[in-house]
Amino acid sequence: MPGIKGPSDYSQEPPRHPSLQINSKVPFNAEPPRSALASSYVTPVDLFYKRNHGPIPVVDDIERYCVDICGLIGTPKKLYMRDVRMLPKYNVTATLQCAGNRRTAMSKTRKVRGVGWDVSAIGNAVWGGAKLADLLELIGIPKLTCSTQSGGKHVEFVSIDKCKEENGGPYKASIPLSQATNPEADVLLAYEMNGEPLNRDHGYPLRVIVPGVIGARSVKWLDSINIIAEECQGFFMQKDYKMFPPSVDWDNINWSTRRPQMDFPVQSVICSLEDVQSIKPGKVTISGYAVSGGGRGIERVDVSIDGGKTWLEASRSQKTGVPYIADHVSSDKWAWVLFEVTVDIPYSTEIVAKAVDSAANVQPENVQDIWNLRGILNTSWHRVQVRVGHSNM
Ligand code: MTE
Repeated sequence: MPGIKGPSDYSQEPPRHPSLQINSKVPFNAEPPRSALASSYVTPVDLFYKRNHGPIPVVDDIERYCVDICGLIGTPKKLYMRDVRMLPKYNVTATLQCAGNRRTAMSKTRKVRGVGWDVSAIGNAVWGGAKLADLLELIGIPKLTCSTQSGGKHVEFVSIDKCKEENGGPYKASIPLSQATNPEADVLLAYEMNGEPLNRDHGYPLRVIVPGVIGARSVKWLDSINIIAEECQGFFMQKDYKMFPPSVDWDNINWSTRRPQMDFPVQSVICSLEDVQSIKPGKVTISGYAVSGGGRGIERVDVSIDGGKTWLEASRSQKTGVPYIADHVSSDKWAWVLFEVTVDIPYSTEIVAKAVDSAANVQPENVQDIWNLRGILNTSWHRVQVRVGHSNM
């Protein structure tokens, strides 16, 4: 593709923030310290987790960069950045969460495969760009279309990066055409993150943002958009990011029996305390994030200071000065809430958080019950141990 290339080595990686915890150097996978997450509703770009499967692409001529739109459409089209910018611009606040968030903790129960992540493979950003539904309308696919006359039912996004899982081919994923053509689903062709042009790590010059869905479907460094009959057959749709029951292992796995994971379930994490933390006796503010997929709001966050025997309700917030009400028009439906509760902790104990979403889904109590061999979607109750010391702390 003119204007952009996917390098085959890691000699041209961008600079990164020194406080990121690096989980894999090449490809670069890193997350911020958990304490950084709960301190702002919108995650600063530098501290936003980076999840890559190959070297970061290089743009050498933004004027020549374009996205091919092809597949089951009359005539293939080329979409230049100036064409994307001509479409109405939307800012959508959406939380991106990697399906592997909290994988390290799942691996402690029984080993799982994949890059290890603590609790910060998640971030909330204001994504600026054009709606995919508007672009598709421009090329002759009306809003709210499930199937085109030529049998198109899915929209595939293909990148330019070189991934070893694809034998050196690009990262790709697809979403149903019904979601892509639904303006309410807010699927974006994003060129901005928090009011600035996307940076290289996050998909410069153009990426897809699929709100409410695992991060794996939000393809970065877009190279082509294909209208296709069946969902994308790429590795990351068919042989990865699928949820299996705990009984499935690497000897009896049959990938085709499960659907690619799309929406994510309700999640919450305490960010103000490490897994094991020493504190002084007295008042402690416990804070963190809670989020659910599919646009469902957060109805409640419960915090326990006795390992889950009794619970207190934490306060929830998004934007300053706007009271948070789950699923209300005034709330950002695709975004996390931050929660907070101040408690008195006189003795060493286990602190637990669990959230309830607006469909009354609750996080599962134990990681063992949701263990799966790829280690995805660890949404079990988040537990931290506090050691209360009475002297010289
Ligand atoms: N897009 C491309 N082209 N290559 C990738 O490796 N990783 C995916 C998705 N899009 C990926 C990609 C995964 S698994 C996640 S969780 C998100 O991007 C991470 O986006 P971020 O690095 O901007 O946080």
